Amino acid sequence: MSRFVAITAVRDFEGRIRQAITGSLHGDLQTLPPTVLQTGTDELFKQLTGAPPEVLILGPGVNPDDAFKLATVIDLQYPEISLLMVAEPSTDIVLKAMHAGVRDVVAPDAEVNELRVLLERACLAAASRRRGMQPAESGQDRGRVIAVMSPKGGVGKTTVATNLAIGLGSLAPMSVVIVDLDLQFGDVASGLMLEPEHSITEAVHGSAAQDSMVLKAFLTVHPAGIYALCAPQKPSESDYITADHVTRLLNQLATEFKYVVVDTAPGLGEHCLATLELATDGVWVCGMDVPSIRGLRKCFSVLKELQLLPQGRHTVLNFADRKSGLSVQDVEATIGVPIDTVIPRSRTLPYSTNRGIPVLQGTARDSAIKGLRKLVQRFDPRMEAAPQNKLHRRVVVS
Ligand SMILES: Nc1ncnc2c1ncn2[C@@H]1O[C@H](COP(=O)(O)OP(=O)(O)OP(=O)(O)O)[C@@H](O)[C@H]1O
Ligand SMILES: [Mg+2]
Repeated sequence: MSRFVAITAVRDFEGRIRQAITGSLHGDLQTLPPTVLQTGTDELFKQLTGAPPEVLILGPGVNPDDAFKLATVIDLQYPEISLLMVAEPSTDIVLKAMHAGVRDVVAPDAEVNELRVLLERACLAAASRRRGMQPAESGQDRGRVIAVMSPKGGVGKTTVATNLAIGLGSLAPMSVVIVDLDLQFGDVASGLMLEPEHSITEAVHGSAAQDSMVLKAFLTVHPAGIYALCAPQKPSESDYITADHVTRLLNQLATEFKYVVVDTAPGLGEHCLATLELATDGVWVCGMDVPSIRGLRKCFSVLKELQLLPQGRHTVLNFADRKSGLSVQDVEATIGVPIDTVIPRSRTLPYSTNRGIPVLQGTARDSAIKGLRKLVQRFDPRMEAAPQNKLHRRVVVS
């Protein structure tokens, strides 16, 4: 949950900021009158309700010199807060704002969409600064790259990936990004009901590839507090995205986010292999039918030969159904590794796909949702630390 504080008495502007936040950003808004600028930061902070803000909006209607003074103090004392100034952006104002540590200057008549984009970026910058201020634990400074894969199509990869990202988002708000590497026909955007302004195309070409802050501006914020990098609008754009692009992109994201969840296209194409080279974890989704199970067995054997199996292995048996003529043990014996999570066939999942609201976003319960929650728990550091929850690594003998 982000916190936005605006210092302004201009009701029309406050209304636009509120609209920009509602429904798109994960947070709430508190407004304070410009007179608080006379009182100093301590007094100002006393007037805040709840947690300290992530984004502080100065103006419109505040004296620019007062705003610069406050900005300078906040930049030194609370560098994790992103500052936005609302004023006609003349060269003089922009220069002074820059010296005072203000992130962006926006015109008072900016429209809701423009404000939304600026607020999203300010939230990203705040989250990134907070992470940068945390002491780096050894080996923990790179996020986990979780590849959700299967040799066959339609087995539930996107369902698993979107729910996993939403579930991880509640463990680590604003620290999760889902990347749609099903470049031709990806449907993460539709599964999360997002209308992305930018896609992977912009993220891998141009300045974003050199600069993680620019890259972050191409992500789409989901109201549940996660970020998404969606597949290109046109399938033909995927021709211009190479395996090297994928490697660089995932490396950049892993330095900025705690969890990078990658949804993939079926099979072992070049983008999937590039993902596996970097992945810390593979989530292997398999349906309860012979082609899907045999496909996974072959996939494991090829990847073992190529030494491309990520360290963390999480097998998911989806569409589990007693009437399929197969048992979980049959599946384990064929693929040669144990099944970690069983997700039964359930009507709630197609319904949630069609609505664009992953089931883990709501509070409904059924056995499929229970399976998905169990999968999320496997990535919860608290659960992993508990000795009784050690991830098993036994091999099933066929
Ligand atoms: N356990 C389940 N029970 C019933 N329906 C499910 C289950 N899991 C997934 N589905 C539904 O199956 C359909 C295909 O799922 P999904 O898109 O996640 O598969 P996919 O592996 O990503 O497919 P593709 O290979 O085409 O990307 C979706 O409509 C989804 O809601
Ligand atoms: Mg899919």
